Amino acid sequence: MTTSHPPRIAIYPGSFDPLTNGHVDIIERGSHIFDSIIVAILGNVEKTPLFSVNERVEILRDVFKGHANVQIETFNGLLVDYAQFKKASAIVRGLRAVSDFEYEFQMALMNRHLAPGIETVFMMPAEQYTYISSRLIKEVFTLGGEVTGLVPPIVEEKLRAKQKAKKK
Ligand code: PNS
Repeated sequence: MTTSHPPRIAIYPGSFDPLTNGHVDIIERGSHIFDSIIVAILGNVEKTPLFSVNERVEILRDVFKGHANVQIETFNGLLVDYAQFKKASAIVRGLRAVSDFEYEFQMALMNRHLAPGIETVFMMPAEQYTYISSRLIKEVFTLGGEVTGLVPPIVEEKLRAKQKAKKK
């Protein structure tokens, strides 16, 4: 007997400023368990992002160009409205440590309150990425630290290009 179900679509939302190898790990894991995963970049929140939304879209599209079931998009407004618009049944979030839990728990329950049909699914990245965050990458890079292996090579390239442009 074969059972058919509508495609299982998940949204993986975030700022991705910049994309880290922790995000890449979660997107790859998500792409194995959902029919498709939409990486949804939140637009226009932080007043001074390091990378513009367009630059982030470009980076993510480059990193995932070989992945047929990973789409890169942007959204504004409430996440659950966007998820419903995209007919997604799940929101994927990465959990690195206990310190992430409280904020994630509140968001998951608020999103469930707003849209009971959408389930939040937490995924753990590989251990070597559990201490990486976009905020720390920005800080370490700005202060001259090494970020090789913590972000995809294209992110490192773009970080260097920004630094060079700033020095001019
Ligand atoms: O990468 P981040 O900054 O941890 O992602 C946070 C994000 C984008 C998931 C969250 O800020 C969000 O969903 N924003 C959209 C507005 C919204 O729906 N807010 C209510 C969340 S309960």
